[in-house]
Amino acid sequence: MTRINGQTRIVGVIGDPVQHSRSPQMHNAAIVERKLDYVYVPFHVRSGELQEAIEGFKALNVLGVNVTIPHKQTVMSILDDVSHEATLIGAANTLIFCDGRVSGDNTDAQGFLRAMTEEGIDIPVGGSAVVLGAGGAARAVVVALALSGLDLITIANRTEWKAIQFEKDLATISETEISAVDLASNQLNLAIRSADLLVNTTSVGMQETDQLLIDPDFLNPGTIVYEIVYTPPETPLLRVAREKGCQTIGGIGMLVHQGAIAFEKWIGIVPNVETMRIALKQALYQKKL
Ligand code: ATR
Repeated sequence: MTRINGQTRIVGVIGDPVQHSRSPQMHNAAIVERKLDYVYVPFHVRSGELQEAIEGFKALNVLGVNVTIPHKQTVMSILDDVSHEATLIGAANTLIFCDGRVSGDNTDAQGFLRAMTEEGIDIPVGGSAVVLGAGGAARAVVVALALSGLDLITIANRTEWKAIQFEKDLATISETEISAVDLASNQLNLAIRSADLLVNTTSVGMQETDQLLIDPDFLNPGTIVYEIVYTPPETPLLRVAREKGCQTIGGIGMLVHQGAIAFEKWIGIVPNVETMRIALKQALYQKKL
């Protein structure tokens, strides 16, 4: 890349594996568009070398990195400062290096909310949501919704104890009631029937042939259906929801916005989210848009 010079600052992403990450395309498109002297680089960092990598970034004057699997949780113990949201989520997806210190933040929760509002969809403050899944992504979503002032969040997970753990961990972060139910229970059906928002945070839906996790008979047209999965762009759940007349949101917006917020935190400039979205879609779906 000829644009790199002696003053170019480095940002990037760490993961293992990291080759699959589309963040370099998304961030570099926004950097080039704004004519900024930065470059976004993927770093393959193995679990046993996380601490050395962090020290290396400090020494090399790297500005910041995103964090992906498997380091999001484990990096927390290495950080000098941790944001409130990262603490609640129990994971950091964005690190910022400054004056020999490393601080960790999590932009997934804000990215989730921004993607919703950019579609013109109001966050159902005072209403209820059902969240399918109780993994890392679910935790960011539940924290985002609990801090937004929902009345009730029902978490349904295949492995029920993980949902119950969420209920315990997150019960006191706000006034929001958090309730764990079995994925196969009638309680879930009832919660879906009265939900303002249904969010799928599981990986179910990535395959066109995946079975639905919910019984669509309980889905109302008034329920917003939000899918964290972004490949394919329309999952079986989104298709059913669209056919039912529900407002739907795909996972690409959250991916773009969590990246845009990290970009802003590092560089102090608001990136063009449309440029990021187009680059991401090209990278993910391998076609010119
Ligand atoms: P992420 O960080 O993307 O959230 P994760 O922490 O591995 O990934 O969580 C994956 C979530 O998808 C979990 O809630 C998982 O359920 P279990 O806790 O029971 O494993 C859920 N999930 C994955 N495959 C599933 C399937 N076939 N049916 C139901 N839930 C599934």
